[in-house]
Amino acid sequence: MSIRTRWYKDAVIYQIYPRSFCDGNGDGIGDIKGIISKLDYIASLGVNAVWLSPCYKSPNDDNGYDISDYRDIMDEFGTLDDWKEMVKGMHARGIKLIMDLVVNHTSDEHEWFKEAKKGKDNPFRDYYIWRKGRGKNGKKPPNNWTSRFGGTAWEYDEASEEWYLHLFTKKQPDLNWDNPKVRKEVGDLVKYWLDLGVDGFRCDVITYISKVEGLPSGKFALGAVGDENFTHGPNIHQYLHELNQNVLSKYDCMTVGEAAGVTIEQGLLYTAEDRDELDTVFMFEHVEADTYFRLLPRKFDLRKLKRIQAKWQNGLRGRGWNSLYYENHDQPRSLPRFTGDFGELRAQSAKMLAVSYQFLQGTPYVYQGQEIGMSNYPFKSLDEMRDVMVSYVRGALGKFEPIMRPLILKVLKKRARDHARTPMQWANAKNAGFSTAEPWIAVNPNYQFGINVKEQNAEGADSILNFYRQVIAYRKDNDIVKLGAYQDYLMKSKDIYCYERAYRGERILVICNFKNKEVKFKMPNAIPFNSVELKLHNYGYDRKQPETTMLRPYEAMVFLLK
Ligand code: GLC
Ligand code: CA
Repeated sequence: MSIRTRWYKDAVIYQIYPRSFCDGNGDGIGDIKGIISKLDYIASLGVNAVWLSPCYKSPNDDNGYDISDYRDIMDEFGTLDDWKEMVKGMHARGIKLIMDLVVNHTSDEHEWFKEAKKGKDNPFRDYYIWRKGRGKNGKKPPNNWTSRFGGTAWEYDEASEEWYLHLFTKKQPDLNWDNPKVRKEVGDLVKYWLDLGVDGFRCDVITYISKVEGLPSGKFALGAVGDENFTHGPNIHQYLHELNQNVLSKYDCMTVGEAAGVTIEQGLLYTAEDRDELDTVFMFEHVEADTYFRLLPRKFDLRKLKRIQAKWQNGLRGRGWNSLYYENHDQPRSLPRFTGDFGELRAQSAKMLAVSYQFLQGTPYVYQGQEIGMSNYPFKSLDEMRDVMVSYVRGALGKFEPIMRPLILKVLKKRARDHARTPMQWANAKNAGFSTAEPWIAVNPNYQFGINVKEQNAEGADSILNFYRQVIAYRKDNDIVKLGAYQDYLMKSKDIYCYERAYRGERILVICNFKNKEVKFKMPNAIPFNSVELKLHNYGYDRKQPETTMLRPYEAMVFLLK
């Protein structure tokens, strides 16, 4: 019998970006002691797992997504003993821990890469991807692939006159997964953490690990040249299956793969239970409901969001398993994107967003600060941004940077990853209660206007925070939410998201008004019922039943129909 209980199907997962969560030792940088001090808070949300962004040793070129030692903790975050205390504290509260597994690349300061650089016959050379250059003297990169952060994906090494591949910054060389030794190392380090009590992994850019033989040049694509030659590459399913069989399947753990550009068909290959690869994936399509080419901001399109959710709900149903999210450390905050409301209706709109995705089928995530309605930072210049992606893009533009600067700023005001990385707002106190020292990145001044944990805790049932607690409590251990069929209504509406989940004669009906004004709602006549209970409402629970009516601005309701 398999020891895998697939507990993640009942989980609500809270994501922590450690650098920005809570500073325990007063140096302006979040750390593990800080997380430990907030474990009761995390438990109070009702979540039963935490995904912790990387906390391993790292020179921090990409805030820990560049790892120099997979088996130890970053100095700024504390020690392995601190980490053990944190896990103990989580488990004591019934909270599981999902670590970030960043194995498409290492840091260039990892021992393996330092060795590999020593020369072509070093035993670690083949842990990475080296090629001769093109053109006279080999001074042109081996192919036209671009780094996801801009510019060529290759860096020249003078000593060996070869280039190495880096799909992110040049301090993040790609590992060569075609080398069985690399796959063995990954299996060993996964086992190391599982034996220390970790309950699962979020697998960073996992869809990039297998590259097409010969590394052919790719066709042109905005910011993503070469994609088709390394996304869902030729051996990826074999490699993941192997990792699953050799290590993961022996533990009651879960895996979620970051899978930009994934289709339903691929999603099924990764997550179908009988394939033994990953348990679930993060798809990205729905967070493109307000972009062109995944990049450029445009007006949010609710119909697009609904179409995509429906496609994934129905596509994976009974075969794979969805991950549900609006925010993470790479995405701007959802409030400014999907409703844009910062006026008197801010709380209503944040609560409505919570309802709109938490009742879909899958494992939902809440990103730190989302539960209090944190929003984007009012950046006025690119120099205020800390993300390596920003400096990388600017560098790649070379002499065109000054001309392009206003345009980049305009885009990043909406799209910067730094929006999600400003410090967690704990109180209306110095630095939002995040740290006693100047934080490593600016604090959003709106902590002074009720966007903080302390005040929302005190506010009673009306706060965004306490509403999130109600939402999580109702969705957790609820078989209709876990297993029910998905049916949407009013798909043509640009304003209303209305869906139903049905299981064994009981149904949950979700009605969300995405507009900041009254909108006429016509009850879909396909829904007969005998009894009805209003389970969640962001306007004081004053409705008795779903009926044809005017929905108030951002009104959100969840009914249980029998
Ligand atoms: C993932 C991470 C992101 C990081 C990148 C490279 O997309 O979420 O933060 O920059 O991988 O590791
Ligand atoms: Ca600190």
